[in-house]
Amino acid sequence: MEFEPFRIAAVSPLPFPTRKERVQELERAEYNVFRLRSNLITIDLVSDSGTGAMSQQQWQRMLLADESFAYQQSYDQLVATVKGITGLPYILPIHQGRAAENILFSSVIKRETRVYSNRLFSTTKAHLERFGAKPVELPVKGSGNIDLTRLRKRIGKGSIVILSLTSNYHGGQVVTLDNIEGVRDLLGRGGLLIIDGSRFVENAYRESKRLGIGLKKVIKKTFSLCDIFYLSTKKDLLTNIGGLIGVRDHELYQKLREELLLFEGFPTHGGLAGRDIAAITQAFQEITDERYLAFRLGQVRRLGERLKRAGVPVHEPFGCHAITIPAEEYAPGISYPGFSAAAQIYLDGGIRCGVFDEDGEVIRLAVPRRVYTESQLCHVSRIVTQTYRKGRFLHLLPIYKPRRLSNFLLRFKIR
Ligand SMILES: Cc1ncc(COP(=O)(O)O)c(C=O)c1O
Repeated sequence: MEFEPFRIAAVSPLPFPTRKERVQELERAEYNVFRLRSNLITIDLVSDSGTGAMSQQQWQRMLLADESFAYQQSYDQLVATVKGITGLPYILPIHQGRAAENILFSSVIKRETRVYSNRLFSTTKAHLERFGAKPVELPVKGSGNIDLTRLRKRIGKGSIVILSLTSNYHGGQVVTLDNIEGVRDLLGRGGLLIIDGSRFVENAYRESKRLGIGLKKVIKKTFSLCDIFYLSTKKDLLTNIGGLIGVRDHELYQKLREELLLFEGFPTHGGLAGRDIAAITQAFQEITDERYLAFRLGQVRRLGERLKRAGVPVHEPFGCHAITIPAEEYAPGISYPGFSAAAQIYLDGGIRCGVFDEDGEVIRLAVPRRVYTESQLCHVSRIVTQTYRKGRFLHLLPIYKPRRLSNFLLRFKIR
């Protein structure tokens, strides 16, 4: 699908800051693009999380939602929908993914436990460490899979594995169904398989096309293999806020309800407004639209192909939600090459990309869902190519480095 399978029902004008304004804004943000103000950004590819556009149907359901303190109407509809898609019996809403990590890990992770994974998102890793666990990543290079050979050598009775679908690494690498099955086999029924399903739909769509199996079947199969899942609904689930937890064990469910009450809100809303829950429930009707998914993944792929054709270094295979660029190749010989390149791309075209540390700095062009058109992303590839060909970058010196999750908060001055 090469064109947007939707009409635009409401528009939001793009900001076009002048070069002088961009220079001033970058200086104010101390050269970390995460600190730029969005009203001074023309095209914002800093994240695909919470940045999607909702449908008219989502807005309609939001207006009709009730906001009772306890047991609001939207709760039963949400639980029935999520159970129907995933097959897990106990479902809890929560306000976002990292809140789910906090609640869940406080209940299932013991100190000194090794937790194996394909790759962990930075907040997932930080939360595991906060609870005294030892995360061990065993990725297969060039894919989202976990290395089953290395995993087999390490796990024992009662081991825990977290699989992140897709693996957030290099813009969303697919975890294959047979890899998830392999983990389940190795763990047996005694171990715990936790799925971080924040991008489970894009993962399942790619697998359904590869295997020639229906999308809903792949989704059901995926979740049938786990003991617990949690996810942020701010990604594939097309909402600006929200999260979900699903478990099979009734005792754990009861415990999580108590934790929710303490940290988030009444267990039927978990810190979300009734209208947010209505929007999430409606999203479940929309995420399995294959025309939308074909366009969505095609849009990201075409961005990668254009950059590659122009000679810009890009990671392959292309991710599902983002294209990533090895910063050291894009801005060779520059310290903090990702931050420096991202700052330059902003200066040259008002475009914001993200910067992450993935075995070296990576510039990430994450594509928000249903937000930018194909021609806007053609403009992005032109600017990113021009900046690369010009090869002139700022020399940055850090003035503040936080203890963890540093890419979001680092600050620089010009050397
Ligand atoms: C794979 C993955 N898990 C968890 C999270 C955390 O979710 P949230 O941003 O809703 O807290 C993210 C956020 O980007 C993520 O990419």
